[in-house]
Amino acid sequence: MAQLDLGSGGLTPSPHRVTLRARLDGTRPDRAVHPDRNQVKDGPRRNEAVDARRTGRPLENDEKPEKRMTTSTSKIVLVTGASSGIGAATARALAGAGHHVVLGARRVDRLAEVVDDIKAAGGSAEYSELDVTSLDSMKTFVSTAHERHGRIDVLVNNAGVMPLSPLIMERTDDWDQMIDVNVRGVLHGIAAALPLMKAQGSGHFINIASTLGHEVVPTAAVYSATKYAVRAISEGVRKENSDIRVSIVSPSFVESELIQGGDPGTMAWVQGLADKLALPTTAVSDAIVYAVNQPDHVDVNELVIRSVLDAAA
Ligand SMILES: NC(=O)c1ccc[n+]([C@@H]2O[C@H](COP(=O)([O-])OP(=O)(O)OC[C@H]3O[C@@H](n4cnc5c(N)ncnc54)[C@H](OP(=O)(O)O)[C@@H]3O)[C@@H](O)[C@H]2O)c1
Repeated sequence: MAQLDLGSGGLTPSPHRVTLRARLDGTRPDRAVHPDRNQVKDGPRRNEAVDARRTGRPLENDEKPEKRMTTSTSKIVLVTGASSGIGAATARALAGAGHHVVLGARRVDRLAEVVDDIKAAGGSAEYSELDVTSLDSMKTFVSTAHERHGRIDVLVNNAGVMPLSPLIMERTDDWDQMIDVNVRGVLHGIAAALPLMKAQGSGHFINIASTLGHEVVPTAAVYSATKYAVRAISEGVRKENSDIRVSIVSPSFVESELIQGGDPGTMAWVQGLADKLALPTTAVSDAIVYAVNQPDHVDVNELVIRSVLDAAA
């Protein structure tokens, strides 16, 4: 079985890591993270800590997270909405890049499948049930991971819903759901993780917005409003905190389970567009790995990702 190879300090490309990455996301094995991006300061001890997490061996004192420096190959990364689509792909890609991922969503059976896949490929992952609309649920998700690992390096606020309809239809339950998941969910993630990141002196939020956070189209007014809000909140966190990195990722159509609920006529039209334009989830998960793996002083503020075919749409 392929094993994560962090023991070389990440300073030379590992054929095992290349293979692992390829197995996790189905991409070519020449697309592993470039080792120069990761300046490992404590590689061998970190590698042993990753092994300890996998096997359940108690951590030695100098393997404990609080004893380690913040810049390293293996980060503790939490991903919300990791049971399908972009979130599941992001968890796989980050694990393939050598990070420990903590997956959250409501469908725990789906989370378990993703975690099993990651572990079978030699990655390091765990999952917890999470409803992002509940501040208590989010705080439990984040604090449990923090207690277990001693730090939270990255929170990917990815969970989202998109039941579209024209405003005239007054589908107010759908409006509420989009506001609760897409906006309150992100705020809950920030409320749960920001104090912990501030206390440790570093952290990284990756908030998934949308190209519909840059433009409004008919039937998407409320969804767009939630994604404009995600971008505004993200900018606020970034401008208030010089020790916290904030990345907004704004995709256009991506293959996922997002097209459900809403007005059936509208959603059939949206599905037709997605059939023509949707990118694979790896287009987004690769971008997230890129943002996570930048050196600590580099803050990738926003990545907008479209199919080239969007130009003619
Ligand atoms: N696909 C696209 O074309 C596209 C384009 C731009 C932006 N986005 C954004 O990308 C993000 C991911 O969406 P996706 O396309 O990957 O769709 P998806 O496959 O439907 O995934 C959405 C995820 O959100 C989770 N979720 C929904 N409500 C939740 C809640 N209350 N608590 C916790 N998790 C919840 C779902 O998990 P459970 O149901 O198991 O809880 C699922 O894992 C969303 O923010 C979406 O707005 C997607």
